[in-house]
Amino acid sequence: MDSHNYLKSKIKEICENYDSSSTGGWITGDGPIPANIMFIGEAPGKTEVESGKPFVGMAGKTFEGYLNSIGLSRKDIRITNTCFFRPIKINLSKTGKTTTSNRPPKTSEVNLFRQILDEEIKLVNPKIIITLGNVPLKRLTSFKNIGECHGKLIYDDNLKKYIFPMYHPSALTYNRNGSFKEMYENDWKALQDAINKVLNK
Ligand code: URA
Repeated sequence: MDSHNYLKSKIKEICENYDSSSTGGWITGDGPIPANIMFIGEAPGKTEVESGKPFVGMAGKTFEGYLNSIGLSRKDIRITNTCFFRPIKINLSKTGKTTTSNRPPKTSEVNLFRQILDEEIKLVNPKIIITLGNVPLKRLTSFKNIGECHGKLIYDDNLKKYIFPMYHPSALTYNRNGSFKEMYENDWKALQDAINKVLNK
């Protein structure tokens, strides 16, 4: 069994044994194994589950645009998540109608996939890991908040890898002010420099 199918079978087993009313489908990571550059997000949404790939919905489009702007495309990178199923909540309206929405994964849900993500990192063997948002940051490092470390290249002694924490691309949707966008764009420029530095070492 190749690395991708191996990870897929393990993810499938965990997801199929989990409370199905809290999840709306699952996906695996995408992109080459091994790969020098690895991005790690939070959890898939509806569009990702429908297409079977991470970061293809609205946040994914934002992500890909910035990725291309630093001269990279998806075929150059591995991209995966911290939680491999779509965490959902069912909302009941006053009229009795139900709607389904995304929610952040609980710590216990992130922990279901600890071993999988560790194995994926081992198989991908990246030279640099870019965490997207607080969920992968807290899972992989001892930082408590993205605000304290975004846009910086950090060597993690525990992982024995370079880490580059970034805001999640969906943060751009919530922070519509120009100064956040400028800071976010500067982080992508800093990432380009960090990748050049780490890959040319
Ligand atoms: N957001 C994530 O964190 N992961 C995805 O796969 C899609 C959106």
